[in-house]
Amino acid sequence: MSFPKNFLWGGATSACQLEGAYKEGGRGLATTDMVIYETPDKKSFKGIELTWDQLQYRKTHEDEFFFPKRHGNDFYHHYKEDIALFAEMGFKVFRMSISWPRIYPNGIEETPNEEGLQFYDDVFDELHKYGIEPLVTLLHYDIPLYLCETYNGFESRITVDCFVKYAKTVLERYKNKVKYWLTFNEINITLGSPYCGCGALLERSKRDEKNFKYQLSHNQFVASALAVQAAHAINPEMKIGCMICRLEKYPNSPDPKDIYQSMFESHLNYFYIDVQVLGEYPYYMKRVFEENNIHLDIEDHDLEIIKKGVVDFISISYYETYVCKYNPNLDLIHAGSLIAPIKNPYLKNTDWGWPIDPLGFRTTLNNLYDRYHKPIFIAENGIGAKDVIEADGSIHDPYRIDFYRKHIEQLHEAIKDGVDVFGYAMWGPIDIVSNSTSEMSKRYGFIYVDADDLGNGTYQRIRKDSFYWYQKVIATNGEDLR
Ligand code: BG6
Repeated sequence: MSFPKNFLWGGATSACQLEGAYKEGGRGLATTDMVIYETPDKKSFKGIELTWDQLQYRKTHEDEFFFPKRHGNDFYHHYKEDIALFAEMGFKVFRMSISWPRIYPNGIEETPNEEGLQFYDDVFDELHKYGIEPLVTLLHYDIPLYLCETYNGFESRITVDCFVKYAKTVLERYKNKVKYWLTFNEINITLGSPYCGCGALLERSKRDEKNFKYQLSHNQFVASALAVQAAHAINPEMKIGCMICRLEKYPNSPDPKDIYQSMFESHLNYFYIDVQVLGEYPYYMKRVFEENNIHLDIEDHDLEIIKKGVVDFISISYYETYVCKYNPNLDLIHAGSLIAPIKNPYLKNTDWGWPIDPLGFRTTLNNLYDRYHKPIFIAENGIGAKDVIEADGSIHDPYRIDFYRKHIEQLHEAIKDGVDVFGYAMWGPIDIVSNSTSEMSKRYGFIYVDADDLGNGTYQRIRKDSFYWYQKVIATNGEDLR
């Protein structure tokens, strides 16, 4: 009843929050490079959703802003040191993403940028040196800015074609170095932030909000399915998965209306896995689309592509659960969003207001397995917190250890329940820039990076107490969580 023998313990990151070096190695500008650090509104996702005017202003007034995702934690120059630290913790897997504009700076070029390709060759070689398996996300938010400005990102099928070209390039190049892949990170973020997920702006679209967002999702489903088919054709040994931000829905009360509501909202979230795992639009969306006047442009063969491009496994990010209260006028888009509007009185929140729910993790995993019977990979789970460096240079983070202990305990319970989970990549093994708030001080890592929200600091790496704790967890294959 212990964790499986070859369980993939490790950590997860994304290029745009980690790498930095935004102008080096022939890289083009990414959508994420235009997101700025802002002190107010820290707890919302507002900062990652731009308007056209903001975008244009920032391009011509760069000096007025700090753009944290251009700098990350400077992994680009520190990757050897960082990977050595991951190896010291005993990592079996490292989830990372490839920066699309490092490979195709504007997305539209005919030939890829060799310097960008070489960088990832070097990173994968370094990982393999320590026996760490890379698990690579094809797209984790950093879309070539050119595709956003010229084609409104994934609203256009041109962007889909460019994505497929990019996917084929890297799948082919790394076919002998990378076995595990994911297509789109948190594909359902599109409902909350189409700029972040798809490089698309509503104001640049002829569609209304609902049609716009579900069309983006459709185009991503097609792109994802084509990447899955390409992966299987290039190397049948590759395993390629989908990735959603899974939000388990709790009814607010035993009132059947609340129960119904949680089922309905759950569908809106499961929708993203259903399409990619079952290979077709689920029955319940027909009515949702009809009643909301959503008419998707579905091209010839799209449904066939989706059918043939089903994924090999499911991956999720698990941060929190979500309470649903009956609301017949509920806005469809909000129902699928990533922020829980109703407070759960039984749970404590993180400093950033995210409910902490370890038992919900077990429930989530059981429900997922019950529904799909597919292997599951935990692509993200973690807590953002403020850390303090003591006078002697140590960092004591019992709050982080407590969070992981409780979640890993419940993960273990789910595995004992019979759920097929083959790996666990906690989010942000080393401090990186927050996606939603662009802060460096919202720290997830077991490794501290000496940099502040404005990019000041030495970028020195320092082991926190949690570093040694996770090292022990991995060494004992999850037996010793003390
Ligand atoms: C997930 C994303 O939503 O959550 C990551 O895939 C992100 O990119 C992580 O960093 C944690 O969120 P945040 O906003 O605290 O960085």
